[in-house]
Amino acid sequence: MDQRKTVAVAIDGPAGAGKSTIARILAKELGYLYVDTGALYRAVGYFMRSKGIDPSAAQKVEPLLQDLKVELRYVDREQKVLVNGEDVTGSIRTPEISMAASQVSALPVVRRFLFDLQQDIARENCVIMDGRDIGTVVLPWAQVKIFLTASAEERARRRYLELREKGDSSTYEEVLEDMKQRDHNDETRAAAPLRAAEDAVKVDTSGETLEESVVRLKKLVLDRIGG
Ligand code: DC
Repeated sequence: MDQRKTVAVAIDGPAGAGKSTIARILAKELGYLYVDTGALYRAVGYFMRSKGIDPSAAQKVEPLLQDLKVELRYVDREQKVLVNGEDVTGSIRTPEISMAASQVSALPVVRRFLFDLQQDIARENCVIMDGRDIGTVVLPWAQVKIFLTASAEERARRRYLELREKGDSSTYEEVLEDMKQRDHNDETRAAAPLRAAEDAVKVDTSGETLEESVVRLKKLVLDRIGG
């Protein structure tokens, strides 16, 4: 029998499938902590960029990890990401850092570096954790595993609108191209590639409103944990 005191819901899937938005709302409704693990890879990408290091160069990235401390803090249950004590939550959401995050996330040494941090949070709290390898690698014991996806065009459209709202001038075509490049990196990397866990429920949110997706996922989670 599973003796764990905490509940973990793992939500994996490609960029722009709606993971973070849906997970954040669900976590609030269920009273769980929302853990956005992409922010951790972004923090590493941000740090390497700030040091002028090529984020895809393993031999340059590895020694610098000694000088890096990544922390998650929760203020009113909102996640903040700290890089050596500096709150970088707002600075890691640019297209440049998205690409740097994708590159560092392909390095096994970086994945190992962030592993304990993710596991420790789930040991201490009921969590909804989103990422790429949560159901497969980080929390294989998660009681609920969801693989959330949507077509590349729909995901790019959503991300484009989000970026535009923030004043970013990227075009839809650029965002789509970026999205495809990142999908390719995430799916083909040797270390923990993006794929659905065998026991994950696959959910495609194409053509669905946010509200519809939230209702569907909440039902799925409650059915599984018997809430
Ligand atoms: O979810 P996101 O776009 O913020 O993630 C940024 C990058 O980090 C993305 O390219 C994939 C990578 N990532 C990962 O490899 N494993 C995770 N658990 C979360 C994110």
